[in-house]
Order: sequence, then C-alpha cells, then structure tokens
Amino acid sequence: MTDPAPRRVLLLNGPNLNLLGRRDPAQYGTATLADVETLAAVAGTAVGLQVVARQSNHEGVLVDLVQAAPGEGFAGIVINPGAYAHYSYALRDAVDAVDIPCVEIHISNVHAREPFRHVSVTAPVMAGFICGCGIAGYELAVRALATRLDPR
Ligand code: DQA
Repeated sequence: MTDPAPRRVLLLNGPNLNLLGRRDPAQYGTATLADVETLAAVAGTAVGLQVVARQSNHEGVLVDLVQAAPGEGFAGIVINPGAYAHYSYALRDAVDAVDIPCVEIHISNVHAREPFRHVSVTAPVMAGFICGCGIAGYELAVRALATRLDPR
C-alpha cells in the first residue's frame, strides 16, 4: 500500500517579515524569509508535514488566509503575526474561529523588548507560543504542530 499524502500545514508570516535579512539583524538575524520558509519546509518533511508558506503585510489578507485554511485542507497553522500579534483582535478572532491548531512564533524575545511587545492578543487562542529562539523557533513550531496533530 502507498503511503498517505503528507498532511499540509500553512506557514503564515505577517507584516515586515518579508524584510528578514536586512531588517534589524540584532533582533532578527540575517536569514531571509526564503531561508525561513526552507527551514520550515525541511522541518516539516522530517515530521511528515508539507509546509506551504505565505506572507502578507495586510491584516485582512492574513485573516482571509486563516479563515480559508481548513477548507483548503490545512491541518494546522504556524504563524508569525509580526506586530499584529500586539493589537489585531481581527486576527485573533480569525484564529479562534477556525478549528485547526495554530502555533504562534516570534523570532525575537518580545518580552525583553519594548512594553508594547509584551502583550500578544493572539496568543490566548493559539495551541502554542514560541518566542526568542531565533529562526529555530519556526522549526520548533512545526514540530510542535506535528506532535499536536499526531500525539505520540
Ligand atoms: C516579531 C516581533 C514583533 O514584535 C515585531 O513587530 C515583528 C517581528 C518577531 O518575529 O520577533 O515584526 O514578530
């Protein structure tokens, strides 16, 4: 019998993460968004997940992508909401409305930065939250989602 098709998960990066590599390297390192997407895809393959990556600078586009994810066959979402984490109730409600697990990741340690970054309004509706691990956080998030989807 052939192996079943790998489960698909959505990797969503929010505003300004398209600038990774040249944006504030002290906080975010020098890897590009393409590097991050490759790292997440490799991490997914290792745990039987196909990672499909999208990035948008627009809140409504991210809301649309989250809403559409279950219907498009995604089993879960890894999301770096960027600054929207700190104030987008719309994104929070979208994540809350979908019945698939979502893991939030921030490259930097948001708790060690400016006070406005200490709160994530999206975190309470997430299955998990990772921050301050650099881009390795994306790998951790993919692995966490795999465990959540397929508890062992
Ligand atoms: C970030 C942290 C946010 O506070 C910031 O607005 C970002 C990146 C991170 O990955 O560390 O855009 O989400």
